[in-house]
Amino acid sequence: MPKLTQLASWQALQAHQGQIASTHMRDLFAADADRFHKMSLKSCDLLLDYSKNRASEQTLELLFNLAKECNLSSKINAMFSGEKINTTEERAVCHSALRANHDEQVQVDGSNIVSEVAATQAQMQAFVDKVRCGNWLGYTGKAITDIVAIGIGGSFLGPKIMSEALRPYWHKGLTCHFVANVDATSICEKLKKVDAETTLFIMSSKSFGTQETLSNTLSAKDWFLAQGGTQADVAKHFVGVTTNIKAATEFGIDEQNLFTMWDWVGGRYSLWSAIGLPIALLIGFDNFKALLAGAKAMDEHFQTAPLEQNMPAIMAMLGIWYTNFFGSQSHVLLSYDHYLRGFPAYVQQLDMESNGKSTTLDGEQVDYSTGPVIWGGEGSNGQHAYHQLLHQGTGVIPADFIMPLNSHNPLGEHHAQLASNCFGQSQALMQGRTFEEALAELEGKGLSQAKAELIAKHKVMPGNKPSNTILMDKLTPATLGSLIALYEHKTFVQGVIWDINSFDQWGVELGKSLGNEILDRLVSEKPKANLDSSSNALVELFRQKHI
Ligand code: F6P
Repeated sequence: MPKLTQLASWQALQAHQGQIASTHMRDLFAADADRFHKMSLKSCDLLLDYSKNRASEQTLELLFNLAKECNLSSKINAMFSGEKINTTEERAVCHSALRANHDEQVQVDGSNIVSEVAATQAQMQAFVDKVRCGNWLGYTGKAITDIVAIGIGGSFLGPKIMSEALRPYWHKGLTCHFVANVDATSICEKLKKVDAETTLFIMSSKSFGTQETLSNTLSAKDWFLAQGGTQADVAKHFVGVTTNIKAATEFGIDEQNLFTMWDWVGGRYSLWSAIGLPIALLIGFDNFKALLAGAKAMDEHFQTAPLEQNMPAIMAMLGIWYTNFFGSQSHVLLSYDHYLRGFPAYVQQLDMESNGKSTTLDGEQVDYSTGPVIWGGEGSNGQHAYHQLLHQGTGVIPADFIMPLNSHNPLGEHHAQLASNCFGQSQALMQGRTFEEALAELEGKGLSQAKAELIAKHKVMPGNKPSNTILMDKLTPATLGSLIALYEHKTFVQGVIWDINSFDQWGVELGKSLGNEILDRLVSEKPKANLDSSSNALVELFRQKHI
């Protein structure tokens, strides 16, 4: 295949960019009263309004041509049918099999992985029911009241952020504390809150080789033994989720307390597997199944909807438009829902660990931009912080506004106020404020003409800043499942266009291995001083305090 930037569809987009760059969205809306209807769609109980984008119908057509020229539909089929599309690790990419109906078949290495998934889900369900019914007893015969979930990266963000998102569905007698950072403060602060007799530790690590998770689990076990538990009691309080059963049993977790996952699930795509155990414990297995069903609905939509009506593809291609043709380097997610406050951080790992790459599948260096910086937070809080830069900063930062139409906590006018902020922000980003409008607003305020003109210049807002709005009726396990899968597939589509492997993460390896070498230097009696001068000096400063 020719290089991406040589494709006819890419070049057509480049030629088209000049035309759109000089068009203001205000004019696009003024010219077409039907723009919202033409540029919005509903699927899986989500509504996507993409009308506030710097795009015409022609732009979308050209973007879809690019997707077609990059063979998107055959790449989608390859992923869903279990092909080893994670070529650098020689693995299939089958997180969608975790939410498949149990009578479906996905073959990986000659076996139907859906039946393995069904077996693990049955084990999860039995465990979840036992804990929630108070039948899983701690070493003094008391029921479990607290879970301490230990894991990092994909073994942490999904369980933590999606549990938080589904807080209204939590079982009354159960709470969960999440520990990721190897900083002892994290685990020490959590252990202050729990009682060893009624606490269950879930150690989640796909590889069972992650330093932070192993250290935190060892410290949790030491604490448990110091509180009065015995070695024989450990099995009542420690369970694990991993692909590496051998390492986990050698570590001391009872084999009966282990939940399997598979190498065809990427860490950042793993909340649907037993990595989601903390979520299932908190919200119950039926609700966990509803979360899977929501994602499954999005899988079906993604596989079957034509590009013109395909939500993940539309969002992905608009992202390509800004990243590759407008020079955007970041993308902001704004959750107008307190329960979804962590969602931008979840998508940050999902997207940045997937598409933060610069080598094509054939090993060439890319000559175009790939994954943008994903960031964001909770609305309306961000309006009083970083929205200033969105409105008047120099770059183009596309935004996704996400909001449920109904709150789990209806209280007076709060939700209407929240919605007014959400809609008002996307409107302001789109239309902006002209110099003349700003000047008119200053009239009658007693300013001299010169002063009024100066202030008006500062009040000008260029507008033409793109955004999507994603609405749902209410944040439920099912709508959340669909929302997460929407972003998973959006990330996949962009990886296809950029011709990179969205499913490996070699970039995190070097820092890990250098960190291990440095640890040895920090704590051993006679370290070899052969690092660079900066690293040597930093190590020495630490040693002076500790050795
Ligand atoms: O360091 C990155 C990473 O490998 C992520 O991809 C992964 O989710 C995380 O570490 C944790 O890995 P594990 O589940 O194997 O402990």
